[in-house]
Amino acid sequence: MTAELTILGIESSCDDTAAAVVRGTPDRAQILSSVVFEQTTLHADFGGVVPEIAARAHAEKIDYCVEDALQQAGITLDAIDAIAVTAGPGLIGGVLSGVMCAKGLSAATGKPLIGVNHLAGHALTPRLTDGVAFPYLMLLVSGGHCQFLLVEGPETYRRLGSTIDDAPGEAFDKTARLLALPQPGGPSVEATARNGNPGKYKLPRPLLDRPGCDMSFSGLKTALLRARDGVVNEHGGLPKQDRHDLCASFQEAVADVLAEKSRRALEIYLALNPTRPVFAVAGGVAANTAIRTALNAVCAKLETEFVAPPLALCTDNGAMIAYAGLARFALGAQDDLTLSARPRWPLDKTSPALLGSGKKGAKA
Ligand code: KG4
Ligand code: ZN
Repeated sequence: MTAELTILGIESSCDDTAAAVVRGTPDRAQILSSVVFEQTTLHADFGGVVPEIAARAHAEKIDYCVEDALQQAGITLDAIDAIAVTAGPGLIGGVLSGVMCAKGLSAATGKPLIGVNHLAGHALTPRLTDGVAFPYLMLLVSGGHCQFLLVEGPETYRRLGSTIDDAPGEAFDKTARLLALPQPGGPSVEATARNGNPGKYKLPRPLLDRPGCDMSFSGLKTALLRARDGVVNEHGGLPKQDRHDLCASFQEAVADVLAEKSRRALEIYLALNPTRPVFAVAGGVAANTAIRTALNAVCAKLETEFVAPPLALCTDNGAMIAYAGLARFALGAQDDLTLSARPRWPLDKTSPALLGSGKKGAKA
């Protein structure tokens, strides 16, 4: 039996400064504490995350965050077996803040240092929350990411497809801006869509006519802009009901694309004959009820269990980094003080990164 490990996890790759303590084995671990300092208000006036502001805020908050996490777990650094930290991909200034903090703690205490890929943190979360067995299929869908990952082991991932431009969360945020709705756009577009008719505007379903699991969301946003301008030209403004209808039509288009591409990714996954097939989601967009319902329906048809971890663990957090670090450490992996921060770091080494940097950093 593998011995229990206690791991401190540090995350600072985007706009959340986070630290957490996780204890257990790769098959059964529990979260002793998880502290997240959000930066939403700092970036609110800029329509996106400003890397320099983010990096400075991480540097200011990270020590408190680690102290809080240890205190809430009721332990000191002495009880920690290793320090795990997000070493990429992400906004480089933020990643550096976390890596420097972790290196300092490691140098001062002599505790092992483990660099963690942020995407592995998300991808392994269903193991932490639901004990899901390998292999499983994961859709990571947030403001910075959109990709299907076949998770075969803590260090083995196959990317089956990803967005070739915007992430869906980014598209929700831009849609909200175009319709004068508050940020973050996802929740406000979803709320506005509730009273709308999704069939009112015929928005495109990009890349559905092409085989494979790659996706595209930037054309959808342009189509929405055109539809909005059409209404404004006709009425001299945007009537309330049209705003509802535009939101509902946009949301349904995103849900349709994600559902069809998920069906294709599931077919590839199910061909492996997993004993207990599981399709898991992570990322802020997974909070959307219409999208969840659409994905659930695809899973039900293909007799696959749908797993959606609690939202606080779907969005960026330190617990997923601590757990991914635990899984690496249990395999004997360890880094040293030469660990570097990486703006890009694709999980699947055989699939090159498709994307550049968006408002939430590199999307390897
Ligand atoms: O995972 P997350 O907190 O941060 C990163 O992107 O890393 O995801 C935030 C994104 C934002 O773009 C936000 O608009 C979107 O997730 N989001 C939603 C919903 N809640 C948050 N999108 C659609 N529907 C929602 N209910
Ligand atoms: Zn993330």
